[in-house]
Amino acid sequence: MPPLSHGLWAFLTALVCLSSCAMRTPGTTETALATTPVGTSEVSPAAESTEPAKDEPSAHPGINDPYFQPDGPERYRRILEAESREIVQRRSDIVDAMGLHRGMVVADIGAGTGLLTTEIAQRVGARGWVYAVDIVPEFLDLIRSRAAEQGLRNVTVIQGEEKAAGLGPGSLDLAFMCDTYHHLEFPRAYMRSVFLSLRPGGRLVLVDMKRVEGESSASVLKHVRAGKAAVIEEVERAGFVFQSETELLEENYYLHFRRP
Ligand SMILES: C[S@@+](CC[C@H](N)C(=O)[O-])C[C@H]1O[C@@H](n2cnc3c(N)ncnc32)[C@H](O)[C@@H]1O
Repeated sequence: MPPLSHGLWAFLTALVCLSSCAMRTPGTTETALATTPVGTSEVSPAAESTEPAKDEPSAHPGINDPYFQPDGPERYRRILEAESREIVQRRSDIVDAMGLHRGMVVADIGAGTGLLTTEIAQRVGARGWVYAVDIVPEFLDLIRSRAAEQGLRNVTVIQGEEKAAGLGPGSLDLAFMCDTYHHLEFPRAYMRSVFLSLRPGGRLVLVDMKRVEGESSASVLKHVRAGKAAVIEEVERAGFVFQSETELLEENYYLHFRRP
């Protein structure tokens, strides 16, 4: 079957979402993409050789537990949206550097409160689509109401899992992860699922906190499991090819990968 054009993809995806939106009860999480039929599901030779270990141990047990405390979602909403946070201050520049254009299908993986989701949704426009994936239901509710308040009809929230993003194979032009990688308990399995969710030639933009022994604070060294070089190596093991780094931020690095 020939691959579908982006425009047709966005249209079909929108149709699937609209029908599932119409059927769902308010407050439930949509999983439109997980059941969306796809036209481009080939697996590159590099990816075929990188099956994740079934018995992958947690890379950072309990790192996401604080989000699930009774006061977690509200407390972390304040932290993630604090004006002092570099990601908040530079959010427009971060989205600019992604190289988005109208009609693209993008996933914001580990979207948190949706700070960047709505920026991305505006850039890809009404013919594009954004899937906001997170494991915290309260964050997904927040994103859904934010998108509605801003009149954005091109955002679908997806309840992710610890080992998979829950996105349809070959369905994305671009996957974006901002300060999410260090929160993955099972990075090998997870990045493999992100790899497979991209169409061949699709891109991954990964922003994460710098971790430098002897330079980073004790709290960063404890919270962030791996530094940039190790992250590039791990992501490449999922089948991605590292492309370039954008020098943009002080506290975070900004990496571009491609699915061959
Ligand atoms: C530090 S926050 C970053 C949020 C957002 N990207 C931002 O920069 O404001 C990390 C996010 O990753 C989410 N997360 C952790 N593990 C995840 C997984 N397996 N799938 C999807 N999201 C996950 C957390 O719930 C949290 O919202």
